[in-house]
Amino acid sequence: MSASKQVRSRVEALRQQIAHHNYRYYALDDPEIPDAEFDALMRELESLEAEYPELITPDSPTQRVGGAPSEAFAEVEHGEPMLSLANAFGEQELTDFDRRVRERLDADEVDYTAETKLDGLAVSLRYENGELVRGATRGDGIRGEDVTANVKTIKAVPLKLRGSEYPRVIEVRCEVFMTHSGFERLNAAQRKKDLKTFANPRNAAAGGLRQLDSRITAERPLTVFCYGVGQISGGDAPDTQYERLQWLKKLGHRVSPEVKRVHGLKECFKYYEEIGNRRDKLGYDIDGVVFKVDRVDYQDRLGQVSRAPRWAVAYKFPAQEQTTRLTAIDVQVGRTGILTPVARLEPVRVGGVTVTNATLHNQDEIDRKDVRAGDTVIVRRAGDVIPEVVSVIKEKRRKGAKRFNLLKHVKNKCPVCGSEALREEGEAAVRCTGGLVCAAQRKQAIFHFASRRAMDIEGLGIKIIDQLVDNELVKTVADIYTLDRDTLIGLERMAEKSADNLLENIEKSRDTTLPRFLYALGIRDVGEATAQSLALHFGDLDPIMKADEEALQEVPDIGPIVAAHIRHFFDQPENRQVADRLRKEVRWPKIEKKREEDLPLKDKTVVLTGTLSSMERNQAKERLMALGAKVTGSVSKNTDLVIAGEKAGSKLTKAEKLGVEVIDEDAFLKMIGNG
Ligand code: IVH
Repeated sequence: MSASKQVRSRVEALRQQIAHHNYRYYALDDPEIPDAEFDALMRELESLEAEYPELITPDSPTQRVGGAPSEAFAEVEHGEPMLSLANAFGEQELTDFDRRVRERLDADEVDYTAETKLDGLAVSLRYENGELVRGATRGDGIRGEDVTANVKTIKAVPLKLRGSEYPRVIEVRCEVFMTHSGFERLNAAQRKKDLKTFANPRNAAAGGLRQLDSRITAERPLTVFCYGVGQISGGDAPDTQYERLQWLKKLGHRVSPEVKRVHGLKECFKYYEEIGNRRDKLGYDIDGVVFKVDRVDYQDRLGQVSRAPRWAVAYKFPAQEQTTRLTAIDVQVGRTGILTPVARLEPVRVGGVTVTNATLHNQDEIDRKDVRAGDTVIVRRAGDVIPEVVSVIKEKRRKGAKRFNLLKHVKNKCPVCGSEALREEGEAAVRCTGGLVCAAQRKQAIFHFASRRAMDIEGLGIKIIDQLVDNELVKTVADIYTLDRDTLIGLERMAEKSADNLLENIEKSRDTTLPRFLYALGIRDVGEATAQSLALHFGDLDPIMKADEEALQEVPDIGPIVAAHIRHFFDQPENRQVADRLRKEVRWPKIEKKREEDLPLKDKTVVLTGTLSSMERNQAKERLMALGAKVTGSVSKNTDLVIAGEKAGSKLTKAEKLGVEVIDEDAFLKMIGNG
């Protein structure tokens, strides 16, 4: 059955609507309808075209899916050559460019269109009578490859120009590229299919565009920004670069929102700086900015030299990757006690600064990249990110270069405090076990010690801690209790009144509880709940410091790992010393040693559901376990109690059905003594 008039006009209407929404989405970046609605329009068109194949036209939006593979790309000649850009490196070269432009034009100051320099592939899109007839790569600038089937799969490329006011022939010049998120998605999909992943978005975009099978191109998340025009016949274009780009946008093309008209050299530098600051947040790669003399009549007067226009220049950002020699591998200790291998480098300029160190992350990374002292390496520095060693140029390795082993290198000791350094099973990091005494961890340890839920020393914030540690007034947390008024007043921005307040708060903190004190020590994995269990089980500090791992594991929620951490902590003589000193400075009420049989939730099975506003679910779980409860994930007839937070769902319903006792968050807090 052939299509009725009605069907024909519906198909036409759908195509117009789809083109309109594509324009809103890609050119204006301002969609009017949700994606799902757009998809529904596409599906309707697809099904009509399936029913009436005679209605399919090459410019139908359904034709972006790609077609059967071709043998090779045909060669095509551009209507106008695709030029390249001269580069300017450094302020002087840009200044020289501007001076030459002004001299040739005999002008005082010139307007430029400032654009980002996209890092993808140049493509020319040829429209005849408003229809996309050809897409071509740059090639040698005169002739390129015909990639029409491929560019048609790129949704941001209009298959038809908007409106009716356009030249009979127009070549639109644009850059095909991939966003960071598109790139991540593609690589994730490749990994899933066990296919090779791409090194960077540029390679992925190039690979995608140069597919002989356009169905593969269609699956690659490619997009475009247009930055100029080539041949124009049978019509006119505006007289300035800036207006031309706005015009292209009106015709349905996607133009970068970063395009700006600037006046004179000074504003060029400003633009460069502004874009440079936002470079990492753009979501796609750029390698510099481009300045183009705005007036087209000026462009014509300036002309070109060897395929590069005299009226445009690329002002590149400093390269983000460089090659240098790695002289040695050292080990640094961070605030959290992690030992990080650091590459010492022969100084090299990367990303605009001189780099002498780069992180090697951890032992696994060193092994994976096989980095050795003396190697020639590629270093990368992007934005504010810490420089890192990307890879080794193995061909340049000297004979006899040895593999690096972090633990062996530090002889199993923290290079800062001499406490034992450990790498636990399943962990990538090597850690210092020095906790309280390690200078590298000192500030963090003091901050934690003073925090509200630990010793609760109000006014001892990070700025004061910085000064106290940097001036060596406090070496360990025990030194807090020997601080005097004169010392505190001597600190920067410390008024007498604040010093007195702080001293008073330090005094107040001397009266604490054993759980708080244990928590304040900052033993790895000993949170508030564990501290409480320890206190209840042992009753005092001394037996805890002496307990072996087996004895520690008798505490309800302490397993072998936490037991080992506690034992380890108190095995460090430095930690023991600090604990002994502190014991003389602070006091806590004696604890009635509770026998396990006396724990209030002994042998009770408890389920947590919904969200709690006062603590994380894990903390709540710890608390419950400290009271002897067994915490499980699902409600059954064996459940004794359900604690229901906000938005509790099916578990609550089930508990009610089974008649299990349910309490809310308030009742729970009262139960654990937090009400
Ligand atoms: S204009 C008039 N503008 O850079 C000269 N090119 O080095 C023609 N590129 O082949 C290029 N962003 O692939 C121009 N905003 C931009 C650009 C840009 C990236 C690429 C393009 C070109 C190469 C020249």
